[in-house]
Amino acid sequence: FPLRHLNTFGIDAQAHAYLPVTSNTMLDIIRRDAQWSTMPRLVLGGGSNLILTGDYPGLVLHMATQGIAVIAEDQRFTYVKAAAGENWHRFVLWTLDHGMGGLENLSLIPGSVGAAPIQNIGAYGVEIKDCFHALTAYDFKSGELLTLNAADCGFAYRDSIFKHAFRDRAVILDVTFALPKQWQANLQYADVAQELASSGIATPSPSQVSDAVIAIRARKLPDPAKIGNAGSFFKNPVVSREQRDALLTQHAQLVSYAQADGTFKLAAGWLIDQCGWKGKTLGAAGVYEKQALVLVNRGGAKGRDVTRLAEAIQADVMARFSVRLEPEPVFV
Ligand code: EPU
Repeated sequence: FPLRHLNTFGIDAQAHAYLPVTSNTMLDIIRRDAQWSTMPRLVLGGGSNLILTGDYPGLVLHMATQGIAVIAEDQRFTYVKAAAGENWHRFVLWTLDHGMGGLENLSLIPGSVGAAPIQNIGAYGVEIKDCFHALTAYDFKSGELLTLNAADCGFAYRDSIFKHAFRDRAVILDVTFALPKQWQANLQYADVAQELASSGIATPSPSQVSDAVIAIRARKLPDPAKIGNAGSFFKNPVVSREQRDALLTQHAQLVSYAQADGTFKLAAGWLIDQCGWKGKTLGAAGVYEKQALVLVNRGGAKGRDVTRLAEAIQADVMARFSVRLEPEPVFV
């Protein structure tokens, strides 16, 4: 089964078998089936954080369940539950259309609701952990449904338990968000504040913040429908204060952000840019012209084109800054 249209990088790979999952009970059927249950399994959402390094020798389960509903509310929050197969951005727009703020900074992130907790998606000072309430997952090992809260999910920067202990085991079925009734715009990112100011908006609504984020993303990031990509290709590396200070003495322009724990996050895009990679091409993969942190498909890229380019970039950044760049998407 061809996977080219099921991964936003547009890598042309084949799956041995493919099944769209339109109801949660289908997972139970697969688990009990002698043939299906023994195959390697790849659970796919929007395919936007995935690098296929070759053909997939097993069963691809494409989460396609739909549904969004307000399930409860209390004095502080409205609780909204969405099925794993819902498109993330459409879900964000749904909450905004229903007068709920909280997710607007996460507008236009590609992918599905079910995939969002896996890497704790984040942008412009907000991560989903900030509005997360709980999720339901299917445990392929026991066949049971698990209800996990934020602490259970082990959220960290672009990370969660679903990239580790639960990697080949749990399938996220739905996610519930707690959206605040006392909403306040999160404008800690200068980009967002500037975008609103340039539109003459002083006290923005959630939808206006969303519009600003959409405008910024559209300028900086390639539309996967037009240019294959998987968003940021590396995590922004976190270093000690000592290491950051040492780098700063050699590179006065170094872009870094202080973290609550005293460490510093470096802008990987800046490091890559400094190494001269922006806009460059190696084989069929390249570095996006407007954002060096995003690798793109120049046409017909295979997994090996992507890994070759990524390794060349990692080597250059290591040689110049002694910083190790860690890939952000999941490699399969
Ligand atoms: N920069 C350069 N050259 C470049 C790219 C960036 O000098 O080619 C500098 C920028 O000038 C800026 C700094 O690096 O000073 C940071 O750049 P930007 O604001 O574009 O954000 P980022 O750190 O590159 C992160 C996330 C994005 C998220 C934005 C906004 C990661 C790995 N990436 O990118 O998330 O949208 O911040 O919050 O944390 C994603 O995860 O796929 C993603 C797109």
